[in-house]
Amino acid sequence: MRSLDDFAAAKLAELEGEKLLRSLVDTTRLDGIWALRNGRRLVSFSCNDYLNLSQHPSIKRQAIAALERYGVGSGASRLVTGNHPLFAALEARLARFKQAEAACVFGSGYLANIGIIPALVGPRDVVLLDELSHGCLWAGARLARSNVIAYRHCDLAHVEKLLDQHRHRHRRALIATDGVFSMDGNLAPVAALAALADRFDAWLMTDDAHGIGVLGGGRGSAHGTAVPLQMGTLSKAIGAYGGYLCASAPVIELMKNRARPLIYSTALPPAIVAAAIAALDLIAGDPALAAMPLAKARAFTARAGLRPATSQIVPVIVGAAEAALAAARFLEAEGFLVVPIRPPTVPAGTARLRFAFTARHDDGDIARLADLVRTGVAIAA
Ligand SMILES: Cc1ncc(COP(=O)(O)O)c(C=O)c1O
Repeated sequence: MRSLDDFAAAKLAELEGEKLLRSLVDTTRLDGIWALRNGRRLVSFSCNDYLNLSQHPSIKRQAIAALERYGVGSGASRLVTGNHPLFAALEARLARFKQAEAACVFGSGYLANIGIIPALVGPRDVVLLDELSHGCLWAGARLARSNVIAYRHCDLAHVEKLLDQHRHRHRRALIATDGVFSMDGNLAPVAALAALADRFDAWLMTDDAHGIGVLGGGRGSAHGTAVPLQMGTLSKAIGAYGGYLCASAPVIELMKNRARPLIYSTALPPAIVAAAIAALDLIAGDPALAAMPLAKARAFTARAGLRPATSQIVPVIVGAAEAALAAARFLEAEGFLVVPIRPPTVPAGTARLRFAFTARHDDGDIARLADLVRTGVAIAA
């Protein structure tokens, strides 16, 4: 249709003009560290497979065994016929690992967030979100049609002020935040948020997509704090696919009845569920593994002259989108894959390189990369 194509072409031209046009680049992950792109082998620092478990031989074997036995797809949503018994096993493993009463698995982390939030709050309620929360927390809050208010990044005084102003005007209040901020690598002040939530009778939800498997001995960034709603993904350090919520038994039962992505979307394939179970078993049995990505990130920040890493994610902010593209090209020419992150994923003027460290990154590669960043990348003030 003419008007449709004209609209799409004009929108793309606008993005191109702002250096914000994106394109999909074929990338073959070779072994968890190496990636093949544009005909070149590159050491990748742009992958969230923090423990390299997507390539782990025994996890692959267990996924293959499940695939051979049960087939490829699950055939229906969990409430119809897609609820393979492996789901109960995975949910029991997750609850045990996270020391929660119960757990519920979703099709992805994104689907989890757009299901959990509208199942808990609605138009008469208020949702306070850290301004740098992941897009799917925003999407979930907007779908809930609640009064959504952003608080300044990690600013507890602002959260307190907003609760003071708004809590009494709403039926329920939810505070939601990334546990580890996906584009900045810093941690939310979870214990202090939990205390504020208690004081104002608000519910605290952490999205630990980047904390599970890596922080708190693998148990995540909220480990040791009473957070009633702990959401995360099975798609990053766990090396598989899917999302989850760990919470009390009644909350989990409510999800199975009210979370629309669980009800109206096909269940994860059994092989993926088997892989997630195997990965959780492996992490629980090897506490040293979880600590490795952060140790690698710290070695990088020390050598590059950056502030010490607080998680396995290290941002190097260069400012303009074009500067981020140029910095990524510079590193790619040296054999490193570090994908530039531009608005709208991050706020305007804060385009960056986002380095993701994994357990198996080579110390020599990290040192060479740090030297290149120190000498060749103009970091924004
Ligand atoms: C903080 C955060 N939450 C949720 C998600 C979504 O998880 P998934 O990739 O499993 O959909 C991501 C992934 O990009 C994320 O970074």
